[in-house]
Amino acid sequence: MAGKERISRKKFIGLGATLGLSSVGASVIAGCGGAGGGGGGGSAGSGGTSTSGGGGSTTEAGPEVGKGQAITKESEVTPEAAFSFTDADTKRPGVLVRLENGDLAAYSAVCTHQACMVAYRPEEKKLACPCHGSVFDPSRGAAVENGPANSPLPEVAIEVREGEVFLA
Ligand code: FES
Repeated sequence: MAGKERISRKKFIGLGATLGLSSVGASVIAGCGGAGGGGGGGSAGSGGTSTSGGGGSTTEAGPEVGKGQAITKESEVTPEAAFSFTDADTKRPGVLVRLENGDLAAYSAVCTHQACMVAYRPEEKKLACPCHGSVFDPSRGAAVENGPANSPLPEVAIEVREGEVFLA
């Protein structure tokens, strides 16, 4: 039975790596999910819609998208709901957001501090990290608004064609 348990743990760690999370980050995020109170945020089942409810700020990696493939319909990305995805090539999570000026932008969802996954906070229109509180402003190139992170989230190239948003 111990062997079976070991395989399960391996699978779990492998899943964390697939999601672009360290095992430490994954456990911290899991912990935050329970502590947020209200917990309603989360992702919608079929898509990668990601919002953080109330004080909670967890997110999940969205569906894998390859270069040249559609992330979602342009109309799906609203100021209230960012869209999470995973770059199929790099396996890194990204987040597509509607900026205050109406434009769309996509950024890596991996915090530049210690690689936790950031979540979109619609009430502030910011990307926030649940681990140590860094806040990034997507309207200013995901610049750091609040540390300890000291560099912006890398931008992810996207292209909008015929009402759909593609990973460029
Ligand atoms: Fe994001 Fe530390 S990992 S603030």
